[in-house]
Amino acid sequence: MAIISSKQPAPESDGHPKRRRASVEGSSRKAAAPEASILQPVATAEEEGKQEESLRPQRLADYIGQKDLKGVLEIAIQAAKGRGESLDHLLLYGPPGLGKTTMCLILAAEMGVNCKITAAPALERPRDIVGILVGLSPGDILFIDEIHRLSRMTEELLYPAMEDFRLDITVGKGSTAKTRSLPLPKFTLIGATTRVGSLTSPLRDRFGLIQRLRFYEQDELTLIVQRTAEILQAPVTQAGAEEIARRARGTPRIANRLLKRVRDYAQVKQSREIDQEVAAQALEVFNVDPMGLDWTDRLVLSVMIEQFNGGPVGLEAIAAATGEDSQTIEEVYEPYLLQIGYLHRTPRGRVATPPARKHLGYE
Ligand code: ADE
Repeated sequence: MAIISSKQPAPESDGHPKRRRASVEGSSRKAAAPEASILQPVATAEEEGKQEESLRPQRLADYIGQKDLKGVLEIAIQAAKGRGESLDHLLLYGPPGLGKTTMCLILAAEMGVNCKITAAPALERPRDIVGILVGLSPGDILFIDEIHRLSRMTEELLYPAMEDFRLDITVGKGSTAKTRSLPLPKFTLIGATTRVGSLTSPLRDRFGLIQRLRFYEQDELTLIVQRTAEILQAPVTQAGAEEIARRARGTPRIANRLLKRVRDYAQVKQSREIDQEVAAQALEVFNVDPMGLDWTDRLVLSVMIEQFNGGPVGLEAIAAATGEDSQTIEEVYEPYLLQIGYLHRTPRGRVATPPARKHLGYE
């Protein structure tokens, strides 16, 4: 088996690494993996905490990017407000870290209602969702993250709740069981998922709006870095913000995380401001390459190129050869590699593309 170097090549002035071959050799590839990656799009416990709240935009006007989604939601908000009604149920899908929770909080602020945030794994027993639904006030928003993971019973309780604002509860057991219906206030369900294809059609069909969040453009991420830097009172030059944005995998959560690490680096190195050089040096220390790839991205691509001749190769074969979980590869690593054109999905499997070969230094 193989070891891939976790050390990055020095970035060149054009933002690409020096030509080299990724080393994939030996039998303990897994053991060489660095600690949890700074490029993971999933929120850490710290990022779910209070301090992060101050970094979130509070209103739609402060929200950078997702132009199409904002356009749709602006109309939905105005129309619902005009009629004095609650918003239609909304399903948000897309890779993690793109702002689904933030958008939900903004919608609550724009509508002037409360927002209850939960996630499907916390709703395992029917009584979990019942407790939440009966506690809602008219117009409230209920946000359910990872909604594709709802248990069947919870999902079935949601159908009449979403459609008719009614809770059907079964009381008693066996032949004496009876169904009681409880009226619910008109509320809005916002579901979030990274796997829209895993939702059952009865659940998907009950959402009035189904919207996708896409990866952010460089210029949008640069503005987000500048905005966060201002809140954190960390001076950053335009080129410094661009350098961080370029390596942030199209994801605001990662951009903000990288900015914080670069801020630490600048402070320790006594740099007055974060310029391009400081940002590039800091991110090299954190093993984030100029395209925003980390150790696992490079491992996945190198294994495909070296062991499978670049593909086509099946997901399970990649997972077995890299020692990574196939679902993690599919949900966390692949979306960005597909987005930047380093990976293609074909009916016969995944293919590493010529730009990926070039980036990793293969001939
Ligand atoms: N911080 C994180 N995501 C943001 C966004 N989309 N707009 C502004 N600030 C953000």
